[in-house]
Amino acid sequence: MNERSAARKEANVGGRRLDLSKVRSIDGVDVRGKRVLMRVDFNVPIENGVVADTTRLTRVLPTIAKLAREGAKVVVLSHLGRPKGTPTPDTSLKPVATKMQELMPGTVIRFAAAPSGEDAKRVVDTLKRGEVAVLENVRYHKGEEKNDRDFAKALAALGDLYVNDAFSSSHRAHASLEAITDLLPSYAGLLMMAEITALGEALEQPERPVMAITGGAKVSTKIEVLTNLVSRMDQLVVGGGMANTFLLAKGFTLGASLVERDLVVTAKGLMGRADESGCEVVLPIDVVVAKELKVGADWQVCGVSGVPADTMILDFGPQSVADLKRRLAKVKTVLWNGPLGAFETPPFGEGTFALARDVAKLTKAGKLVSVAGGGDTVRALNEAGVADDFSYVSTAGGAFLEWLGGAELPGVGALARSGSRAH
Ligand code: 3PG
Ligand code: MG
Repeated sequence: MNERSAARKEANVGGRRLDLSKVRSIDGVDVRGKRVLMRVDFNVPIENGVVADTTRLTRVLPTIAKLAREGAKVVVLSHLGRPKGTPTPDTSLKPVATKMQELMPGTVIRFAAAPSGEDAKRVVDTLKRGEVAVLENVRYHKGEEKNDRDFAKALAALGDLYVNDAFSSSHRAHASLEAITDLLPSYAGLLMMAEITALGEALEQPERPVMAITGGAKVSTKIEVLTNLVSRMDQLVVGGGMANTFLLAKGFTLGASLVERDLVVTAKGLMGRADESGCEVVLPIDVVVAKELKVGADWQVCGVSGVPADTMILDFGPQSVADLKRRLAKVKTVLWNGPLGAFETPPFGEGTFALARDVAKLTKAGKLVSVAGGGDTVRALNEAGVADDFSYVSTAGGAFLEWLGGAELPGVGALARSGSRAH
């Protein structure tokens, strides 16, 4: 068991006391000969019938391999895409089962053409100890997204124990994530434990000083996140398009930059709250601007008070990056969600990449704990070639954001409650 796990401390989540110490890990449970019904997040990109990115597969593989090694019959459940109750060719989990077989050549992997019912039962019944069945997309059944108890019962009939190893899906109150925990003894998988431990260490119990780096286009999509972070962090770096709205709130004129005028009041309110709780909001000092957002567009660097009228801000400038590096040298924990600039369009990723390299370097030197998450962020770290050097990179997108915003994730809450009932 992971004794130093921050997941074993109480987390004040969304004003409710969610006791994460009640979440039971599957590690150490006797699974020999048992059918372990395991919810994973195989919501992965499929291109031409082939899995295009195996990250989510490889991250959950240790749990599957461990259970198989210990003699369980592993029954894997997942969703893929948003088929809304109707099977479609591009949302089948068949290509994922094929890829799993490639990744686990020594293990028998079977595939069932339905997530429940006779087809699923037949395949599960044939499983021997150490074998794995991947069931078809749970969202092919309308009951999944309705958190329907009868569908949960149909799933529960296929297992003796339930394991949730899908942190990145656990912001959904769906049958295979929530309702099912009322029906089977329920545990967290290794990836789930790692996710809630890493996020706990960075958000709930960080070693201080702690800095959050946030970015992305819009304040409007991250109000909860920013509100929660200003009350918990020592420094909050605001980057991306969001920074523009904060700069506007401070009275700067930003030319043709993306701004959310209707959120200036919100930005002012956030800065006020930050002040009250001793959190410094860090904005750029200089910026990279261009007349258009286009690969290789002509660009220039200017101070935030000198943005030319016909240009838009697309990245942090060199002075801003140097300022962030000076700050980083003094903090102990970094939580990162969102790029600083338009990183997908070269050369406007330089600020994000430079900062990513610096966080990676300090982490490798043992000076920093760094936790990152969110689709864009992970893509940016991969592009910078440093994702492996961070302390922890979450596989979650929406779930990571909801956690940062202080929400109780239904799938995680259900594990904690199921654990409480068992105590
Ligand atoms: C994700 O990819 O973020 C999760 O698998 C959740 O998928 P969803 O947004 O379709 O619920
Ligand atoms: Mg999503």
